[in-house]
Amino acid sequence: MEALSRNFFLYLSKNKSLNKMAKRYGLKFGASKVVGGIDFDCAVPVIKKLNEKGLCTTVDHLGEFVKSMDETRERTLQEIHTIQTIAREKLDSQVSVKLTSLGLDIDYNLVFENMRTILNEAQEHGIFVTIDMEDESRCQATLDIFKGLKAEFSNVGTVIQSYLYRSLDDINDLKELSPNLRLVKGAYKESTEVAYQEKKDVDENLKKMIKNHLLNGNYTAIASHDDQMINFTKQFAKENNISRDLFEFQMLYGMRTQTQLDLVNQGYKMRVYVPYGNDWYGYFMRRLAERPANVAFVLKGIFKS
Ligand code: FDA
Repeated sequence: MEALSRNFFLYLSKNKSLNKMAKRYGLKFGASKVVGGIDFDCAVPVIKKLNEKGLCTTVDHLGEFVKSMDETRERTLQEIHTIQTIAREKLDSQVSVKLTSLGLDIDYNLVFENMRTILNEAQEHGIFVTIDMEDESRCQATLDIFKGLKAEFSNVGTVIQSYLYRSLDDINDLKELSPNLRLVKGAYKESTEVAYQEKKDVDENLKKMIKNHLLNGNYTAIASHDDQMINFTKQFAKENNISRDLFEFQMLYGMRTQTQLDLVNQGYKMRVYVPYGNDWYGYFMRRLAERPANVAFVLKGIFKS
C-alpha cells in the first residue's frame, strides 16, 4: 500500500499539465502547510512567525532544471531580491540554492558567475548560502563549483548525501577547506552502482559522516527528521565535548513541528528549510510520496485552502 501511494504521488509530481495548472491557481490542497508562499514576499510572514518561536530558517526558491541563460539570470535577480528582503526585514534566515536553477546544465562559467553575484550580495548582508545537492550525476560538478567558490567566499556551504558510497571520501577531501556542510540521507533515486539502497546502510553512513565532520572541527548541519539521527548527534556531541555552537539541526517546513520546538527549548539551534515559489507542485507531491502520513493533513487542507 505504502509503495503504491509513493509511486502514485511520484507519478503525479511529474505530471506537466497538473504542474502548469498549479502555477496558475496558487497554493492549494494544503500545500501552504509545507510551502512558505507563492513568492518570497508571501513567505516573509511565515518566516517571521518561525523566527519569533526561536527557529531560524533557510529559504529555497522552488524550481530546478532551468534551460535558458536568460532564465538563470532572472533566477539570480530573484535570489538577490530574496537576500535584500531578508536583510531589510531583519529575518534570521539563510538561503539555499540549486545549481540547476542557475545554469549548471547549460554552462560552467554561467553558473559560476550567477553564484558569484548571489554570494557577493549575501556577503554584503552577512547571509550564508547553502548549495543544495542534486542527483548523483551532478555531484562532482557541484563539489567542484563549491570548492572554487569557497576559495573566494566564506559564506558558502554545500550538502553531502549519506546514500552515496563516495560521501565519506568527499568529507575527507573537503576537510582542509573547513566547510560548513549540511549532512542528509539523500532524496533522489540512485542506482546500486553509486548508492546504498538499504535504509540501515544509509543511516550507518550518515552517523559516520556526522562523527567525521564534527571531529574534524567543522560546522555541521544535521538535516533529518529521524529521531535516531538527532539522538545520535546529541549523545555523540555530549560524549566528545563538542560545543553546541558547532552544529545545528535542520528540518523541512511543516514536518515534525513539535520536535522542532522541543529542540529549541532544549537549547539546540534548529533551522527550518522553507521552500517558496509558484513551482510548488512537484515539491509538494514529493513530500506526499515520502510519507503517506502527510496525506492526512492534505485531505484536511483540501477543505480549507
Ligand atoms: P527518513 O525519511 O529516513 O525517515 C526516518 C524516520 O524519521 C521515519 O521512519 C520516521 O520515524 C521519522 N520521520 C521522517 N519524517 C517524518 C515526519 N515528517 N514526521 C514524523 N516523523 C518523521 N536531500 C538531498 O538530496 N539534497 C539536499 O540538498 C537536501 N536538503 C535537505 C535539507 C533539509 C533541511 C532536510 C530536512 C532534508 C534535505 N534533503 C536533501 C532530504 C533528505 O536527503 C531526505 O530525503 C529527507 O530528509 C528524508 O530523510 P530523513 O533523514 O528526514 O528521514
